[in-house]
Parts: sequence; structure tokens; C-alpha cells
Amino acid sequence: MDDLATVLFTAREIQDRVRDLGRTISHDYRGREPVLISVLKGAAMFHADLLRAIELHTSVDFMSISSYGAASSGVVRIMKDLERDIGDRDVILIEDIADTGLTLTYLLSTLRDRRPASLEVCALLDKAARRITPINIRYRGFECPDKFVLGYGLDYAEVYRNLPYIVAVEDMDALAADPLALAPLLHSPS
Ligand code: IMP
Repeated sequence: MDDLATVLFTAREIQDRVRDLGRTISHDYRGREPVLISVLKGAAMFHADLLRAIELHTSVDFMSISSYGAASSGVVRIMKDLERDIGDRDVILIEDIADTGLTLTYLLSTLRDRRPASLEVCALLDKAARRITPINIRYRGFECPDKFVLGYGLDYAEVYRNLPYIVAVEDMDALAADPLALAPLLHSPS
């Protein structure tokens, strides 16, 4: 298995980091009631854990998007929009991973048009080496190497989202040939 994937962040490391982020956000937004918006589906797990680490009144909302054409082209269609107006609200956009930054750039401009009082990004992983459009990530979980990563919400062909830790794929060809090649990981705790 080691030649196919290596553990990047253990479940424990993720939980510790999420708790730190929750503490920082609770401090920064003291006395306010931020709306935590996440983008389905990859950020759902991070969103759920982060929410429980924030000691403030918060609201949550979700968006779902799909990319037109090639993944990460930045041309995005909103499949499910927010349920509530975010005008004059303090908004934190929760993302699983900032890769090229094109998706976040699109989402931020869409949300900014709705005139929130403030708008910040909280991304669990930052794959900065691949950035095409610069983004200001106010809250960042971990810096991520320039490798395809899986687990804790992140999928390959809809598999591996439920892995409680994050792995870096070392052999993309093997995974492309057999999307279930890493399935034994789902039975091995880390
Ligand atoms: P961006 O527009 O290139 O920043 O892409 C962001 C989206 O691509 C993320 O929200 C993920 O859904 C997906 N993505 C980017 N890198 C990875 C990865 O390493 N593993 C799984 N999904 C990824």
C-alpha cells in the first residue's frame, strides 16, 4: 500500500488542527454571529467538525457546484444555492482544498456580489504550488504538497471521502486504472 499512498495527516493531527482553527475563529468573531458556508461535497466533513469547535452562535448554509468541462477550469455552475440572504452578514467560506484557486475565486466573487458585511476563507488544505489565481486564505489548516490527496471529505471517483485521515496518492496511474486500489485503507486506522 505504501507505494500507492502515504499518510499525510492523521485523524489526530486533523482534529487538533480543526480545534485550533475553531478557537481562532471564536476569538476573531467574538460578539458576532458568522455564517459558515461550505461547498458540497468535499468540505462537508471539515465543516461539521469545525462548527463543533466554534464557541459562538453561528448559522450554516451550503452551496453545491459543478465544474463545466475540465475540472478546475474555474467555470462553475451553481447546482444548489444558499437558502438565506447573506447581505450584511459575516461570512466564512469553508473549503476542503485550495488548489488552482479558480473555484474559490469564482465563489468569492459570487458571494461578494451579495454584499456581506465581511467575507473570509477557511480552507483545510492549501496546495499553494498549484495556485493560478491568488486568494487570501484567512484560516488555513495545513499546507499541502503538490500531490493528489484523498480522505476526510476528499474523493477520487466518489470513493474515500469517509477515510478519517488524509493520504497523498503516490501512484495516480494505478488509481486511475482501478479507483478501488486504495480501498484497503478504509479498514486501516491512522
Ligand atoms: P481549484 O479550483 O483548482 O482550487 O479546485 C478546487 C477543488 O478541486 C476542490 O474543492 C476539490 O474538490 C478538488 N481538488 C483539488 N485538488 C484535489 C485533490 O488533491 N484531491 C481531491 N480533490 C481535489
